[in-house]
Amino acid sequence: MSDNNAILSVGGDAKDYAILNGTVGPQVIDVRKLYANTGMFTYDPGFTSTASCDSGLTYIDGDKGILLHRGYPIDQLAEQSSFMEVSYLLLNGELPSKKELEDFTRTITRHTMVHEQLTTFYRGFRRDAHPMAIMCGVVGALSAFYHDSTDINDPEQRKIASHRLIAKMPTIAAMAYKYSVGQPFVYPRNDLSYTANFLNMTFSVPAEEYVIDPVVVDAMDKIFTLHADHEQNASTSTVRLAGSSGANPFACIAAGIACLWGPAHGGANEAALNMLREIGTVDRIPEYIARAKNKDDPFRLMGFGHRVYKNYDPRATVMQKTAKDVLEKLGVNDPIFDVAKELEQIALNDPYFIEKKLYPNVDFYSGVILSAIGFPTEMFTVLFALARTVGWVAQWNEMISDPAQKIGRPRQLYTGPAQRDYVPVEKR
Ligand code: CMC
Repeated sequence: MSDNNAILSVGGDAKDYAILNGTVGPQVIDVRKLYANTGMFTYDPGFTSTASCDSGLTYIDGDKGILLHRGYPIDQLAEQSSFMEVSYLLLNGELPSKKELEDFTRTITRHTMVHEQLTTFYRGFRRDAHPMAIMCGVVGALSAFYHDSTDINDPEQRKIASHRLIAKMPTIAAMAYKYSVGQPFVYPRNDLSYTANFLNMTFSVPAEEYVIDPVVVDAMDKIFTLHADHEQNASTSTVRLAGSSGANPFACIAAGIACLWGPAHGGANEAALNMLREIGTVDRIPEYIARAKNKDDPFRLMGFGHRVYKNYDPRATVMQKTAKDVLEKLGVNDPIFDVAKELEQIALNDPYFIEKKLYPNVDFYSGVILSAIGFPTEMFTVLFALARTVGWVAQWNEMISDPAQKIGRPRQLYTGPAQRDYVPVEKR
Protein backbone atom coordinates (compact mmCIF):
# COMPACT_ATOMS: atom_id res chain seq x y z
CA MET A 1 0.00 0.00 0.00
CA SER A 2 2.99 2.31 0.38
CA ASP A 3 5.30 3.73 -2.27
CA ASN A 4 6.61 6.88 -0.62
CA ASN A 5 7.14 8.41 2.80
CA ALA A 6 6.40 11.56 4.73
CA ILE A 7 9.22 13.00 6.81
CA LEU A 8 8.48 14.56 10.16
CA SER A 9 11.28 16.36 11.88
CA VAL A 10 11.01 16.98 15.63
CA GLY A 11 13.88 18.96 17.18
CA GLY A 12 16.06 18.21 14.17
CA ASP A 13 15.46 14.45 14.36
CA ALA A 14 13.80 13.50 11.05
CA LYS A 15 11.90 10.22 10.77
CA ASP A 16 10.05 8.61 7.86
CA TYR A 17 6.40 7.69 8.04
CA ALA A 18 4.86 5.54 5.31
CA ILE A 19 2.24 7.14 3.09
CA LEU A 20 -0.48 4.60 2.39
CA ASN A 21 -2.70 4.60 -0.70
CA GLY A 22 -6.33 3.60 -0.82
CA THR A 23 -8.17 2.73 -4.04
CA VAL A 24 -9.35 6.33 -4.45
CA GLY A 25 -9.37 9.31 -2.13
CA PRO A 26 -6.77 10.93 0.08
CA GLN A 27 -3.63 9.06 1.02
CA VAL A 28 -2.91 8.64 4.71
CA ILE A 29 0.29 9.09 6.72
CA ASP A 30 0.87 6.06 8.91
CA VAL A 31 1.74 7.64 12.27
CA ARG A 32 1.52 4.48 14.36
CA LYS A 33 5.24 4.71 15.22
CA LEU A 34 5.10 8.44 16.05
CA TYR A 35 4.83 7.99 19.82
CA ALA A 36 7.63 5.42 19.90
CA ASN A 37 9.82 7.71 17.75
CA THR A 38 9.10 11.08 19.36
CA GLY A 39 7.14 10.57 22.59
CA MET A 40 4.43 12.78 21.03
CA PHE A 41 0.85 12.17 19.99
CA THR A 42 -1.04 13.69 17.08
CA TYR A 43 -3.79 16.13 18.11
CA ASP A 44 -7.05 16.04 16.16
CA PRO A 45 -10.20 16.61 18.26
CA GLY A 46 -13.25 15.70 16.19
CA PHE A 47 -11.03 13.55 13.94
CA THR A 48 -11.08 16.06 11.10
CA SER A 49 -7.81 14.72 9.65
CA THR A 50 -7.68 11.22 11.08
CA ALA A 51 -8.38 7.91 9.35
CA SER A 52 -9.27 5.52 12.18
CA CYS A 53 -9.23 2.34 10.09
CA ASP A 54 -9.11 1.04 6.56
CA SER A 55 -12.42 0.02 5.08
CA GLY A 56 -13.71 -1.37 1.79
CA LEU A 57 -17.37 -0.51 2.30
CA THR A 58 -18.12 3.11 1.57
CA TYR A 59 -16.27 5.92 -0.15
CA ILE A 60 -17.13 9.62 0.15
CA ASP A 61 -15.65 12.51 -1.79
CA GLY A 62 -17.05 15.47 0.09
CA ASP A 63 -15.88 18.10 -2.41
CA LYS A 64 -17.35 16.37 -5.43
CA GLY A 65 -20.46 15.13 -3.60
CA ILE A 66 -19.73 11.46 -4.31
CA LEU A 67 -20.95 8.54 -2.19
CA LEU A 68 -20.13 4.98 -3.27
CA HIS A 69 -21.05 1.70 -1.59
CA ARG A 70 -18.59 -1.01 -2.62
CA GLY A 71 -17.93 1.21 -5.65
CA TYR A 72 -21.55 1.75 -6.73
CA PRO A 73 -22.87 5.36 -6.73
CA ILE A 74 -25.65 6.03 -4.25
CA ASP A 75 -27.98 7.56 -6.86
CA GLN A 76 -27.81 4.38 -8.97
CA LEU A 77 -28.46 2.23 -5.93
CA ALA A 78 -31.34 4.40 -4.72
CA GLU A 79 -32.98 4.55 -8.15
CA GLN A 80 -32.35 1.01 -9.40
CA SER A 81 -31.67 -1.26 -6.44
CA SER A 82 -33.50 -2.02 -3.20
CA PHE A 83 -32.65 -1.83 0.48
CA MET A 84 -32.35 -5.63 0.72
CA GLU A 85 -29.95 -5.73 -2.23
CA VAL A 86 -27.85 -2.86 -0.85
CA SER A 87 -27.74 -4.64 2.51
CA TYR A 88 -26.40 -7.76 0.82
CA LEU A 89 -23.88 -5.64 -1.08
CA LEU A 90 -22.61 -3.93 2.07
CA LEU A 91 -22.34 -7.19 4.00
CA ASN A 92 -20.84 -9.32 1.24
CA GLY A 93 -18.93 -6.94 -1.01
CA GLU A 94 -20.67 -7.79 -4.30
CA LEU A 95 -24.16 -7.44 -5.73
CA PRO A 96 -26.09 -10.70 -5.29
CA SER A 97 -27.27 -12.99 -8.07
CA LYS A 98 -31.05 -13.39 -8.29
CA LYS A 99 -30.83 -16.58 -6.21
CA GLU A 100 -28.49 -15.03 -3.64
CA LEU A 101 -30.86 -12.10 -3.21
CA GLU A 102 -33.85 -14.42 -2.78
CA ASP A 103 -31.99 -16.51 -0.21
CA PHE A 104 -30.79 -13.44 1.68
CA THR A 105 -34.27 -11.88 1.69
CA ARG A 106 -35.76 -15.16 2.92
CA THR A 107 -33.18 -15.39 5.72
CA ILE A 108 -33.87 -11.84 6.86
CA THR A 109 -37.63 -12.40 6.66
CA ARG A 110 -37.35 -15.48 8.88
CA HIS A 111 -35.56 -13.55 11.60
CA THR A 112 -38.08 -10.68 11.90
CA MET A 113 -39.92 -11.97 14.97
CA VAL A 114 -38.68 -10.98 18.40
CA HIS A 115 -38.89 -13.11 21.52
CA GLU A 116 -42.29 -12.60 23.10
CA GLN A 117 -40.59 -11.75 26.38
CA LEU A 118 -39.10 -8.67 24.75
CA THR A 119 -42.53 -7.03 24.91
CA THR A 120 -42.13 -6.72 28.68
CA PHE A 121 -39.21 -4.35 28.15
CA TYR A 122 -41.52 -1.96 26.31
CA ARG A 123 -44.02 -2.01 29.13
CA GLY A 124 -41.30 -0.84 31.51
CA PHE A 125 -41.15 2.52 29.70
CA ARG A 126 -43.55 5.36 30.35
CA ARG A 127 -46.00 5.51 27.49
CA ASP A 128 -44.65 8.91 26.38
CA ALA A 129 -41.01 7.74 26.32
CA HIS A 130 -39.05 8.87 23.28
CA PRO A 131 -38.86 5.93 20.84
CA MET A 132 -35.06 6.37 20.57
CA ALA A 133 -34.80 5.81 24.33
CA ILE A 134 -36.89 2.67 23.92
CA MET A 135 -34.81 1.52 20.98
CA CYS A 136 -31.49 1.98 22.84
CA GLY A 137 -32.83 -0.08 25.73
CA VAL A 138 -34.54 -2.82 23.75
CA VAL A 139 -31.68 -3.37 21.28
CA GLY A 140 -29.21 -3.49 24.19
CA ALA A 141 -31.53 -5.99 25.88
CA LEU A 142 -31.34 -8.26 22.82
CA SER A 143 -27.78 -9.10 23.88
CA ALA A 144 -29.30 -11.03 26.77
CA PHE A 145 -31.41 -13.13 24.41
CA TYR A 146 -28.69 -14.46 22.13
CA HIS A 147 -25.90 -16.15 24.03
CA ASP A 148 -24.92 -18.05 20.90
CA SER A 149 -24.07 -14.78 19.18
CA THR A 150 -21.42 -13.79 21.67
CA ASP A 151 -18.52 -15.72 20.13
CA ILE A 152 -17.56 -12.88 17.87
CA ASN A 153 -14.52 -14.76 16.60
CA ASP A 154 -16.75 -17.22 14.76
CA PRO A 155 -17.73 -15.73 11.36
CA GLU A 156 -20.91 -17.83 11.23
CA GLN A 157 -22.11 -16.49 14.58
CA ARG A 158 -21.26 -12.96 13.47
CA LYS A 159 -23.33 -13.51 10.34
CA ILE A 160 -26.34 -14.76 12.30
CA ALA A 161 -26.11 -11.82 14.71
CA SER A 162 -25.94 -9.44 11.73
CA HIS A 163 -29.00 -11.01 10.10
CA ARG A 164 -30.90 -10.90 13.37
CA LEU A 165 -30.14 -7.23 13.87
CA ILE A 166 -31.15 -6.22 10.33
CA ALA A 167 -34.30 -8.35 10.54
CA LYS A 168 -35.49 -7.38 14.02
CA MET A 169 -34.85 -3.66 13.80
CA PRO A 170 -38.10 -2.93 11.85
CA THR A 171 -40.07 -5.01 14.34
CA ILE A 172 -38.48 -3.19 17.29
CA ALA A 173 -38.99 0.23 15.63
CA ALA A 174 -42.64 -0.50 14.81
CA MET A 175 -43.23 -1.76 18.36
CA ALA A 176 -41.73 1.45 19.76
CA TYR A 177 -44.23 3.40 17.68
CA LYS A 178 -47.17 1.19 18.60
CA TYR A 179 -46.31 1.50 22.28
CA SER A 180 -46.18 5.29 22.06
CA VAL A 181 -49.63 5.53 20.47
CA GLY A 182 -51.19 2.90 22.72
CA GLN A 183 -51.99 0.42 19.93
CA PRO A 184 -51.35 -3.35 20.02
CA PHE A 185 -48.07 -4.64 18.62
CA VAL A 186 -48.43 -6.08 15.12
CA TYR A 187 -46.51 -9.27 14.31
CA PRO A 188 -44.31 -9.43 11.21
CA ARG A 189 -45.73 -10.94 8.03
CA ASN A 190 -43.50 -13.17 5.93
CA ASP A 191 -45.48 -12.58 2.73
CA LEU A 192 -44.46 -8.91 2.64
CA SER A 193 -41.21 -7.26 1.55
CA TYR A 194 -38.87 -5.90 4.23
CA THR A 195 -40.17 -2.36 3.81
CA ALA A 196 -43.87 -3.22 3.29
CA ASN A 197 -43.72 -5.42 6.38
CA PHE A 198 -42.32 -2.53 8.41
CA LEU A 199 -45.09 -0.20 7.23
CA ASN A 200 -47.70 -2.84 8.02
CA MET A 201 -46.32 -3.40 11.54
CA THR A 202 -46.32 0.37 12.05
CA PHE A 203 -49.62 1.49 10.58
CA SER A 204 -51.99 -1.48 10.55
CA VAL A 205 -54.47 -2.09 13.36
CA PRO A 206 -56.45 -5.27 14.04
CA ALA A 207 -59.76 -3.47 13.56
CA GLU A 208 -59.43 -2.81 9.86
CA GLU A 209 -57.46 -3.73 6.78
CA TYR A 210 -54.41 -1.59 6.07
CA VAL A 211 -53.74 -1.03 2.39
CA ILE A 212 -50.01 -0.74 1.75
CA ASP A 213 -49.42 2.07 -0.75
CA PRO A 214 -46.66 1.14 -3.26
CA VAL A 215 -45.67 4.83 -3.52
CA VAL A 216 -44.98 4.88 0.20
CA VAL A 217 -43.13 1.54 0.09
CA ASP A 218 -40.94 2.84 -2.71
CA ALA A 219 -40.17 6.13 -0.91
CA MET A 220 -39.48 4.33 2.37
CA ASP A 221 -37.20 1.82 0.67
CA LYS A 222 -35.25 4.71 -0.89
CA ILE A 223 -34.94 6.39 2.51
CA PHE A 224 -33.59 3.15 3.98
CA THR A 225 -31.15 2.75 1.07
CA LEU A 226 -29.91 6.34 1.37
CA HIS A 227 -29.21 5.86 5.08
CA ALA A 228 -27.67 2.37 4.89
CA ASP A 229 -24.05 3.36 5.50
CA HIS A 230 -21.93 6.47 5.58
CA GLU A 231 -18.28 5.70 6.19
CA GLN A 232 -16.76 6.44 9.63
CA ASN A 233 -19.44 8.84 10.93
CA ALA A 234 -19.94 9.34 14.68
CA SER A 235 -22.33 6.43 15.31
CA THR A 236 -20.38 4.01 13.11
CA SER A 237 -17.17 4.97 14.88
CA THR A 238 -19.01 4.41 18.17
CA VAL A 239 -20.03 0.91 17.07
CA ARG A 240 -16.48 0.17 15.96
CA LEU A 241 -15.01 1.52 19.21
CA ALA A 242 -17.48 -0.45 21.34
CA GLY A 243 -16.87 -3.56 19.23
CA SER A 244 -13.09 -3.19 19.40
CA SER A 245 -13.15 -4.37 23.00
CA GLY A 246 -14.89 -7.59 21.94
CA ALA A 247 -18.29 -6.50 23.28
CA ASN A 248 -21.56 -8.21 22.36
CA PRO A 249 -22.79 -7.00 18.94
CA PHE A 250 -26.30 -6.16 20.13
CA ALA A 251 -24.81 -3.96 22.86
CA CYS A 252 -22.49 -2.34 20.28
CA ILE A 253 -25.45 -1.46 18.05
CA ALA A 254 -27.27 -0.02 21.08
CA ALA A 255 -24.22 2.23 21.58
CA GLY A 256 -24.47 3.30 17.92
CA ILE A 257 -28.15 4.12 18.38
CA ALA A 258 -27.30 6.31 21.40
CA CYS A 259 -24.75 8.26 19.37
CA LEU A 260 -27.05 8.61 16.37
CA TRP A 261 -29.71 10.21 18.55
CA GLY A 262 -27.84 13.53 18.88
CA PRO A 263 -29.18 16.49 16.87
CA ALA A 264 -25.82 17.02 15.14
CA HIS A 265 -26.11 13.48 13.70
CA GLY A 266 -29.23 11.35 13.10
CA GLY A 267 -31.36 13.47 15.40
CA ALA A 268 -31.15 16.24 12.79
CA ASN A 269 -34.12 14.89 10.83
CA GLU A 270 -36.38 15.28 13.84
CA ALA A 271 -34.80 18.63 14.72
CA ALA A 272 -35.17 19.85 11.12
CA LEU A 273 -38.88 19.16 11.03
CA ASN A 274 -39.43 20.66 14.48
CA MET A 275 -37.59 23.74 13.24
CA LEU A 276 -39.83 23.96 10.15
CA ARG A 277 -42.87 23.74 12.39
CA GLU A 278 -41.43 26.39 14.71
CA ILE A 279 -40.81 28.71 11.74
CA GLY A 280 -44.39 27.94 10.71
CA THR A 281 -44.86 30.42 7.87
CA VAL A 282 -42.70 31.61 5.00
CA ASP A 283 -42.64 35.23 6.22
CA ARG A 284 -40.73 34.17 9.38
CA ILE A 285 -37.83 32.58 7.48
CA PRO A 286 -35.62 35.73 7.42
CA GLU A 287 -35.76 35.88 11.23
CA TYR A 288 -34.39 32.32 11.46
CA ILE A 289 -31.77 32.89 8.77
CA ALA A 290 -30.57 35.90 10.78
CA ARG A 291 -30.41 33.79 13.93
CA ALA A 292 -28.39 31.08 12.14
CA LYS A 293 -25.86 33.72 11.11
CA ASN A 294 -25.63 35.34 14.53
CA LYS A 295 -22.44 34.19 16.28
CA ASP A 296 -23.98 34.86 19.72
CA ASP A 297 -27.00 32.67 19.02
CA PRO A 298 -26.42 28.90 19.26
CA PHE A 299 -29.27 28.31 16.78
CA ARG A 300 -28.35 26.42 13.61
CA LEU A 301 -30.43 25.68 10.57
CA MET A 302 -31.06 21.99 11.15
CA GLY A 303 -30.70 19.85 8.05
CA PHE A 304 -28.00 22.15 6.67
CA GLY A 305 -24.26 21.58 6.57
CA HIS A 306 -22.14 18.47 6.77
CA ARG A 307 -18.70 17.65 8.10
CA VAL A 308 -17.63 15.95 4.88
CA TYR A 309 -19.87 17.23 2.06
CA LYS A 310 -18.76 20.72 1.13
CA ASN A 311 -20.44 20.91 -2.26
CA TYR A 312 -23.69 19.00 -2.00
CA ASP A 313 -24.94 15.88 -0.25
CA PRO A 314 -25.63 13.32 -3.02
CA ARG A 315 -28.23 11.67 -0.79
CA ALA A 316 -30.06 14.97 -0.53
CA THR A 317 -30.34 15.16 -4.33
CA VAL A 318 -32.18 11.82 -4.47
CA MET A 319 -34.18 12.69 -1.37
CA GLN A 320 -35.28 16.03 -2.76
CA LYS A 321 -36.70 14.33 -5.87
CA THR A 322 -38.38 11.63 -3.76
CA ALA A 323 -39.90 14.29 -1.51
CA LYS A 324 -41.39 16.02 -4.55
CA ASP A 325 -42.81 12.73 -5.93
CA VAL A 326 -44.24 11.65 -2.59
CA LEU A 327 -45.88 14.98 -1.85
CA GLU A 328 -47.43 15.04 -5.33
CA LYS A 329 -48.58 11.43 -5.32
CA LEU A 330 -49.98 11.53 -1.79
CA GLY A 331 -51.55 14.92 -2.46
CA VAL A 332 -50.31 16.16 0.91
CA ASN A 333 -50.83 19.83 1.59
CA ASP A 334 -49.04 20.99 4.73
CA PRO A 335 -47.73 24.58 5.05
CA ILE A 336 -44.41 23.33 6.45
CA PHE A 337 -43.59 21.96 3.01
CA ASP A 338 -43.85 25.49 1.60
CA VAL A 339 -41.60 26.67 4.42
CA ALA A 340 -39.11 23.90 3.55
CA LYS A 341 -39.04 24.82 -0.16
CA GLU A 342 -38.65 28.52 0.52
CA LEU A 343 -36.03 28.04 3.24
CA GLU A 344 -33.97 25.86 0.91
CA GLN A 345 -34.05 28.55 -1.80
CA ILE A 346 -33.23 31.42 0.56
CA ALA A 347 -30.36 29.54 2.23
CA LEU A 348 -28.92 28.36 -1.09
CA ASN A 349 -28.70 31.97 -2.29
CA ASP A 350 -27.48 33.55 0.96
CA PRO A 351 -23.77 34.59 0.94
CA TYR A 352 -23.26 33.23 4.50
CA PHE A 353 -24.38 29.74 3.52
CA ILE A 354 -22.58 29.88 0.17
CA GLU A 355 -19.31 30.98 1.78
CA LYS A 356 -19.48 28.34 4.51
CA LYS A 357 -20.55 25.70 1.96
CA LEU A 358 -23.69 24.86 3.88
CA TYR A 359 -26.16 22.91 1.76
CA PRO A 360 -29.29 21.00 2.69
CA ASN A 361 -28.30 17.52 3.81
CA VAL A 362 -30.19 14.23 3.61
CA ASP A 363 -32.03 14.98 6.84
CA PHE A 364 -33.62 18.15 5.54
CA TYR A 365 -35.70 16.31 2.95
CA SER A 366 -36.18 12.96 4.72
CA GLY A 367 -38.16 14.67 7.48
CA VAL A 368 -40.49 16.21 4.92
CA ILE A 369 -41.18 12.80 3.33
CA LEU A 370 -41.60 10.97 6.62
CA SER A 371 -44.01 13.60 7.85
CA ALA A 372 -46.06 13.27 4.64
CA ILE A 373 -46.17 9.49 5.11
CA GLY A 374 -47.59 10.02 8.59
CA PHE A 375 -44.69 9.37 10.96
CA PRO A 376 -44.52 11.57 14.06
CA THR A 377 -41.24 13.48 14.27
CA GLU A 378 -39.98 11.41 17.24
CA MET A 379 -39.88 8.38 14.93
CA PHE A 380 -37.59 9.96 12.34
CA THR A 381 -34.30 9.08 14.00
CA VAL A 382 -35.62 5.60 14.77
CA LEU A 383 -36.04 5.07 11.02
CA PHE A 384 -32.50 6.30 10.45
CA ALA A 385 -31.26 3.80 13.06
CA LEU A 386 -33.24 0.99 11.43
CA ALA A 387 -31.58 1.66 8.06
CA ARG A 388 -28.10 2.38 9.42
CA THR A 389 -28.05 -0.94 11.28
CA VAL A 390 -26.84 -2.71 8.14
CA GLY A 391 -23.91 -0.27 7.85
CA TRP A 392 -23.10 -0.69 11.53
CA VAL A 393 -23.05 -4.49 11.39
CA ALA A 394 -21.11 -4.53 8.10
CA GLN A 395 -18.50 -2.16 9.57
CA TRP A 396 -18.38 -4.13 12.82
CA ASN A 397 -17.86 -7.38 10.88
CA GLU A 398 -15.14 -5.80 8.78
CA MET A 399 -13.37 -4.60 11.92
CA ILE A 400 -13.55 -7.93 13.74
CA SER A 401 -12.25 -9.77 10.65
CA ASP A 402 -9.27 -7.42 10.36
CA PRO A 403 -6.27 -8.96 12.16
CA ALA A 404 -4.59 -5.53 12.40
CA GLN A 405 -7.42 -4.02 14.40
CA LYS A 406 -6.63 -3.34 18.07
CA ILE A 407 -8.86 -2.05 20.83
CA GLY A 408 -9.64 1.60 20.09
CA ARG A 409 -7.74 3.67 22.61
CA PRO A 410 -7.14 7.34 21.74
CA ARG A 411 -4.73 9.42 23.81
CA GLN A 412 -5.03 13.06 24.90
CA LEU A 413 -3.36 16.38 25.47
CA TYR A 414 -3.54 16.63 29.25
CA THR A 415 -4.43 20.13 30.50
CA GLY A 416 -5.34 19.39 34.12
CA PRO A 417 -3.15 20.16 37.18
CA ALA A 418 0.33 18.62 37.30
CA GLN A 419 1.06 16.26 40.20
CA ARG A 420 0.40 17.85 43.62
CA ASP A 421 0.09 16.59 47.17
CA TYR A 422 -3.19 15.81 48.85
CA VAL A 423 -4.23 18.34 51.52
CA PRO A 424 -6.41 17.03 54.40
CA VAL A 425 -9.84 18.68 54.49
CA GLU A 426 -9.19 20.56 57.78
CA LYS A 427 -6.18 22.28 56.19
CA ARG A 428 -7.98 23.46 52.99
N1 CMC B 1 -26.53 26.57 10.43
C1 CMC B 1 -25.78 27.72 10.58
N2 CMC B 1 -24.43 27.73 10.60
C2 CMC B 1 -23.80 26.55 10.48
C3 CMC B 1 -24.50 25.33 10.30
C4 CMC B 1 -25.92 25.39 10.28
N3 CMC B 1 -26.63 24.28 10.12
N4 CMC B 1 -23.62 24.31 10.21
C5 CMC B 1 -22.40 24.86 10.31
N5 CMC B 1 -22.51 26.21 10.46
C6 CMC B 1 -21.40 27.16 10.55
C7 CMC B 1 -20.76 27.13 11.94
O1 CMC B 1 -21.33 28.07 12.79
C8 CMC B 1 -19.31 27.41 11.61
O2 CMC B 1 -19.19 28.80 11.42
P1 CMC B 1 -17.79 29.53 11.84
O3 CMC B 1 -16.76 28.95 10.92
O4 CMC B 1 -18.07 30.98 11.59
O5 CMC B 1 -17.54 29.20 13.27
C9 CMC B 1 -19.09 26.76 10.25
O6 CMC B 1 -20.40 26.72 9.63
C10 CMC B 1 -18.52 25.36 10.32
O7 CMC B 1 -19.30 24.60 11.25
P2 CMC B 1 -18.74 23.42 12.15
O8 CMC B 1 -19.69 23.18 13.27
O9 CMC B 1 -17.32 23.71 12.50
O10 CMC B 1 -18.76 22.23 11.12
P3 CMC B 1 -18.75 20.70 11.47
O11 CMC B 1 -18.19 20.02 10.30
O12 CMC B 1 -18.10 20.44 12.79
O13 CMC B 1 -20.31 20.35 11.65
C11 CMC B 1 -22.52 19.62 11.29
C12 CMC B 1 -21.09 19.66 10.74
C13 CMC B 1 -23.36 18.69 10.41
C14 CMC B 1 -22.52 19.05 12.70
C15 CMC B 1 -23.10 21.06 11.27
O14 CMC B 1 -23.15 21.56 9.95
C16 CMC B 1 -24.49 21.14 11.91
O15 CMC B 1 -24.59 21.25 13.13
N6 CMC B 1 -25.59 21.06 11.08
C17 CMC B 1 -26.92 21.03 11.60
C18 CMC B 1 -27.24 19.62 12.06
C19 CMC B 1 -27.45 18.66 10.91
O16 CMC B 1 -28.19 18.95 9.98
N7 CMC B 1 -26.84 17.45 11.02
C20 CMC B 1 -27.05 16.37 10.06
C21 CMC B 1 -25.83 15.98 9.29
S1 CMC B 1 -26.23 14.88 7.94
C22 CMC B 1 -26.81 13.42 8.67
C23 CMC B 1 -25.82 12.75 9.57
O17 CMC B 1 -24.64 12.70 9.24
O18 CMC B 1 -26.24 12.25 10.62
